[in-house]
Amino acid sequence: MPAQTPPRTFHVKSFGCQMNVYDGERMAELLTAEGMTAVDARETADLVVLNTCHIREKATEKVYSDIGRLRRDDGTVPLIAVAGCVAQAEGAEIMARAPSVRVVVGPQAYHRLPEMVAAATKGSRETATDMPAEAKFAALPQRRKSGPTAFLTIQEGCDKFCTYCVVPYTRGAEISRAFVDLIEEARALVDGGAREITLLGQNVNAWTGEATTGRAIGLAGLAEALATIPDLARIRYTTSHPADMDDALIAAHADNPKLMPFLHLPVQSGSDRVLKAMNRSHSADGYLKLIDRVRAARPDIALSGDFIVGFPGETEAEFADTLAIIDAVGYAQAYSFKYSARPGTPAALMDGHVPATVMEDRLAQVQDRINRDQLAFNQASIGRRCQVLVERRGRQPGQWLGKSPWLQSVHFSDEAAIGDLVEVDLISAGPNSIAGQRVG
Ligand code: 5AD
Ligand code: SF4
Repeated sequence: MPAQTPPRTFHVKSFGCQMNVYDGERMAELLTAEGMTAVDARETADLVVLNTCHIREKATEKVYSDIGRLRRDDGTVPLIAVAGCVAQAEGAEIMARAPSVRVVVGPQAYHRLPEMVAAATKGSRETATDMPAEAKFAALPQRRKSGPTAFLTIQEGCDKFCTYCVVPYTRGAEISRAFVDLIEEARALVDGGAREITLLGQNVNAWTGEATTGRAIGLAGLAEALATIPDLARIRYTTSHPADMDDALIAAHADNPKLMPFLHLPVQSGSDRVLKAMNRSHSADGYLKLIDRVRAARPDIALSGDFIVGFPGETEAEFADTLAIIDAVGYAQAYSFKYSARPGTPAALMDGHVPATVMEDRLAQVQDRINRDQLAFNQASIGRRCQVLVERRGRQPGQWLGKSPWLQSVHFSDEAAIGDLVEVDLISAGPNSIAGQRVG
């Protein structure tokens, strides 16, 4: 490859989960610290980072078509870096198939992005897909500016090995970031403007650490320590695994006033046969009992979940069990997916492929119920008075958008500013948002 001038501008495009959004922000901070400028349009950027997701569907094919679309009308291409989970899983193949890609960097190695970009501008092609995550965080620059809501990755990787999932292979083994580092990063985010922090991890409630006193703590202890940061108003966390939902965390939903009444707790299926084949380590009934305990601690909690339809061998009766668990829980919101065979996962080798049309039909049924329950949850909120954290302006003049404690989008028209926590009466509800009226 010929040498080229070092990039002055960059664009990071993140796909997939919130952890990728966090990683994308950290990569942008790294490149900014090197003197490069972020631009909104990828068409004008000297360096484009595609921060990819490998969790479902034809993720890999999408990456190749995105790479192809980076070619400009005059035939030139920017310096292209492929990051994220597709880079981790298929780095060598990307390098072989896409000659225009100059850098492949996995999710645990992106602290090396600047040096890799520098080497690539001298003509080489660079790959880094090593797995230890601790080194990455230590090498990232201090956080500075933040919007009113911020993400903070506290835990990465997964040891659960659900049989359909690539995460244990792309993100590696579970690691917890050190308590002191997290407190420091949270303080920096709050100093930079954050009023709400969402703690991120593939299994965020598996986080463990040691408080400054030397006491062993879990996520509840971390949330308690974060709650002492005066200007931090709200703490959220995602994604949780039912097996790691301990008593202390459930109690924290009653005791920690900054911990928001929202819990994303995926169950995936309502059938015990399917849950076992998924290696989920919980039954449908065990999950419902757990939900009862969470609701006993925090009766108004908004519940969210993930569902997979069409797992290999899923029968009509087993699918009906999934509909039944949706009815039993009454989610405030949830995500649902058609099963997608991921290369290298045990489920990809299982018998009983469910036809695409059946999957479509099951997905539509699940989504109908979730939409029904989401609207019901929003309608049940009418009459509540709550705080809304203002995130941005709405489409109408004078209108503001923010989130309720239950993570609903609320709009209202009044004097306000981004980052304000304002008292609002919830007055009318749609499926995706709520109209509010500022109190006073
Ligand atoms: N097929 C479909 N959905 C999947 N998920 C993870 N792997 C797959 C797959 N192979 C879903 C699960 C998980 C969410 C992040 O993505 O529901 O909770
Ligand atoms: Fe994937 Fe299961 Fe780990 Fe979640 S708990 S990341 S679904 S293996």
